[in-house]
Amino acid sequence: MWVLGIDTSCDDTGVGLVRDGRVVVNLVASQVALHEAFGGVVPELASREHLKVLRPLTERALGEAGIGPEDLGLIAATRGPGLIGALLVGYTFAKGLAWALGRPFYAIHHLEAHMAAAWPEDLAPPFLALVASGGHTHLFLVEDLGRYRLLGATRDDAAGEGFDKVARLLGLGFPGGPEIERLAQEAEEKAPFPVPLKGQEGLDFSFSGLKTQAIRLLEAGWPKAAIAKGFQEAAIAHLGEVVLKAVERTGLKTLLVAGGVAANRALQARFQEAGLRVFFPPKGLSQDNGAMVALAAWRRHQRGFPPSPLSLGATPYWPL
Ligand code: KG4
Ligand code: ZN
Repeated sequence: MWVLGIDTSCDDTGVGLVRDGRVVVNLVASQVALHEAFGGVVPELASREHLKVLRPLTERALGEAGIGPEDLGLIAATRGPGLIGALLVGYTFAKGLAWALGRPFYAIHHLEAHMAAAWPEDLAPPFLALVASGGHTHLFLVEDLGRYRLLGATRDDAAGEGFDKVARLLGLGFPGGPEIERLAQEAEEKAPFPVPLKGQEGLDFSFSGLKTQAIRLLEAGWPKAAIAKGFQEAAIAHLGEVVLKAVERTGLKTLLVAGGVAANRALQARFQEAGLRVFFPPKGLSQDNGAMVALAAWRRHQRGFPPSPLSLGATPYWPL
């Protein structure tokens, strides 16, 4: 069965096609260049660009898969959380297509989609899942598909946001994660960064203090590469400490790491060395995309979850 998945939650237009749980096509149209001049995502521009790009991108995806719309068995889109104007474009387009074709529609939570990208089909819960992206840093105990217990979240900036802000400070491009990762590899020394929230009782995250420290170090004349390396190591050490504390408390030694930050190789190495059974999304599936939405819908369908009513609207806030 073919599943179409669409994500327009922020500034990427994602269209993915999954066949029987396997990703066949995954197209992402980035809007980075459009927003660059403004120093951040401009919601109104994002919506307009999704509107312009979505239909041709969907037609291209179907063409690459060698199928027509009538071959689709299920249609899915991100319902939230995200920018409401941006969400509405993909969500309404997908609902319209489902209605016109008479196919079941699944409204998908963006974070469930991120997790679905890293979740091997034969991996049974319970396990831990860290979702670290530009908008989220959430640690879940996954009890089952659709049953997630939030163990901890960021108190301020998201992990990816931290990478983006420090990159901007250092005069690097957007998104900042890959730029910081590249610059850190060139570093001969490492600037000092304290690991955030050391000794906390809970399982929270915090990244804004690292950004403040980066400003101080830059003013003190530290080389940019040393700042990139120090920041990246402290951010990863922080994520590692909180996750390992959760492992200790729950006794669960299986971990999914998802979201854009999961693409970071130093972070992957950190978790692989920790003696956990750890799963990352395959290449191209960590950042926002449509295939992860299709994967989540496929799982829901397989497990007998009912499709979503077409009367259900998109929503910018949606706790998981
Ligand atoms: O999941 P995603 O595409 O979008 C959101 O839902 O936010 O995540 C994008 C975030 C950006 O903040 C980006 O800087 C970060 O993921 N990112 C990385 C890397 N690649 C992307 N952070 C660290 N290292 C990377 N290699
Ligand atoms: Zn995302």
